[in-house]
Amino acid sequence: EMDASKLMKQQVGKAAADRVQSSSIVGLGTGSTTAYAIQFLGDRLKSGELKDIIGVPTSFQAEVLAREYGIPLTTLDVIDRIDIAIDGADEVDPQLNLIKGGGAAHTREKVVDTLAAEFIVVVDSSKLVDKLGSTFKVPVEVIPMAYAPVMRAIEKLGGKPELRMGVKKAGPVVTDQGNMVIDVKFDSIDNPAELEKTLNNIPGVLENGLFVNTTNLVLVGEIKDGQPSVR
Ligand code: A5P
Repeated sequence: EMDASKLMKQQVGKAAADRVQSSSIVGLGTGSTTAYAIQFLGDRLKSGELKDIIGVPTSFQAEVLAREYGIPLTTLDVIDRIDIAIDGADEVDPQLNLIKGGGAAHTREKVVDTLAAEFIVVVDSSKLVDKLGSTFKVPVEVIPMAYAPVMRAIEKLGGKPELRMGVKKAGPVVTDQGNMVIDVKFDSIDNPAELEKTLNNIPGVLENGLFVNTTNLVLVGEIKDGQPSVR
């Protein structure tokens, strides 16, 4: 039997994939929820219901999945638009602002998702929060030689920084770009737009996981009366 979280992710991934139209350039997000959207996009291509889409992957993971499911890929240097991007999130607030980067992919995700004419976020209901930062730390990608001064600068801002360590690797997590990730706990994020800019302004920081005013639509998978549904 499938667990509830998997069912919710599958439903919402399918709902997002169903919104993609033929001939679109599609931003392909990262994480377990978007993985279902990529799978369903592949199914729609195979059945012939959907034609001529091209994906722009936000990570090594998205690239490998897209190949596995038969979605042709391109890169940003040869296209001039992204029609729709589908991506997951670690937290979503009532203004549709996000924390992303649980998979250490937020830098490429922000490039692709903000370029898209339509940015659709796919989450299960556990990701909805009243205030950003309440359950998740803010991921900050840093170039390796600057991780220590960046951590000190973050402490001065009132954050509690932690260098993200590997699970099946000794030492720090390394991003697709060869950098490190610092996860920062903030007591309260009252102004995500300002914090996003402040963090990115620290020398050595590449990008942080706060996504402010970028989301067009959030699809939420939930279990209602024992059945998976999307709202
Ligand atoms: C990747 O860096 C993140 O931004 C993901 O989009 C996020 O962690 C969502 O992943 P899940 O869908 O697996 O929760």
